[in-house]
Amino acid sequence: MDKVNANGETVNELLEAQAHVCNHIFSFINSMCLKCAVELGIPDIIHNHGKPMTVTELVAALPTLNPTKARNIYRLMRILVHSGFFSQQKLSHGDQEDGYVLTNASRLLLKDNPFSLTPFLKFELDPILTKPWDFLGIWFQNNDCTPFYTANGMTFWDYADHDPKFGNIFNEGMASDARLVSSVLMDKCKGSFEGLDSLVDVGGGTGKLGKYIADAFPHLECTVFDLPHVVAGLEDSRNLKYVGGDMFEDVPAADAVLLKWVLHDWNDDECLKILKRCKEAISKQEKGVMIEKKVVIVDVVVMDEEKVKDENSKTFKTQVLMDMLMMAVVTGRERREEEWAKLFFATGFSGYKIFPMLGVRSLIEVYP
Ligand SMILES: C[S@@+](CC[C@H](N)C(=O)[O-])C[C@H]1O[C@@H](n2cnc3c(N)ncnc32)[C@H](O)[C@@H]1O
Repeated sequence: MDKVNANGETVNELLEAQAHVCNHIFSFINSMCLKCAVELGIPDIIHNHGKPMTVTELVAALPTLNPTKARNIYRLMRILVHSGFFSQQKLSHGDQEDGYVLTNASRLLLKDNPFSLTPFLKFELDPILTKPWDFLGIWFQNNDCTPFYTANGMTFWDYADHDPKFGNIFNEGMASDARLVSSVLMDKCKGSFEGLDSLVDVGGGTGKLGKYIADAFPHLECTVFDLPHVVAGLEDSRNLKYVGGDMFEDVPAADAVLLKWVLHDWNDDECLKILKRCKEAISKQEKGVMIEKKVVIVDVVVMDEEKVKDENSKTFKTQVLMDMLMMAVVTGRERREEEWAKLFFATGFSGYKIFPMLGVRSLIEVYP
């Protein structure tokens, strides 16, 4: 029988609690090891090897590795195997050594994968974006709008505007997410765009999703609307055009407005202003026969905590991590269904429908 301490915990419970605390203290090491593996080009090196790759082969293939660090590659790989980014396979019958192979997750980090999330990783783990986490506690006690502001001396949006290198890392990161989501959207929610003559993708970044939709619906006039410095120099194509402006001031007229990963950047008052401009944009457009005007939102709808089970707890965890990210970087938040509904009805929309189909995110159609 375990001994019980003064709080009534057994020694095993105490050790379990200690392991839990340590696991969380060290959690950031997961992200940093992944970033390191990508910086060293490990997913591509294993991919190009074409068969399971031993640690010796991997070490030999790392062009910039300092030989005195070679023994540490095994340690880096061990944690990445444990966290599901690589797995190990026997080389051939009787061989002692295992070889590393990619998993679905590390395939998403290959440079040439059209759905590569490497630009997204590079953005999210850029020091400019990780620094605010050191200031979260201070921010709770000061008057700054965001921990990002406390850490970097200006808002995220000003930083992305004033530092073109960072702005580019941001736009590339968003574009890499948009490429993957575009394909999923067309697979699962194509109907949301059918029958429209025109669409404006508000906060559409460099237009990856807009272009995908424009190509899938050649008769659709698609406008990508974003801040002037984001769309500057981007070239229009047959049914896709870029317009620079401020969504708080005016949104170009269209049958439908698309807002992907935009509203979660903003607080409720700011969202009300954006949604109002979007509602005006779809009312300005002359109504074609049979065209259902709408605002299409792609964003997180945070799960009810009571519905979190083992099989969906990873989704919930990702949603609440993203919510904290919105707190640290911008003034926004991830919203539960009732919080979304409150925004829609406060802006005068008459109804909405949620299609919970996009992994951690959902598609919401909002009707005037
Ligand atoms: C999180 S990103 C999402 C980009 C894109 N929709 C996607 O999902 O890949 C938010 C976008 O909103 C744009 N944005 C921020 N403030 C804006 C404003 N006042 N008017 C128009 N676009 C704005 C940013 O430049 C950025 O491209």
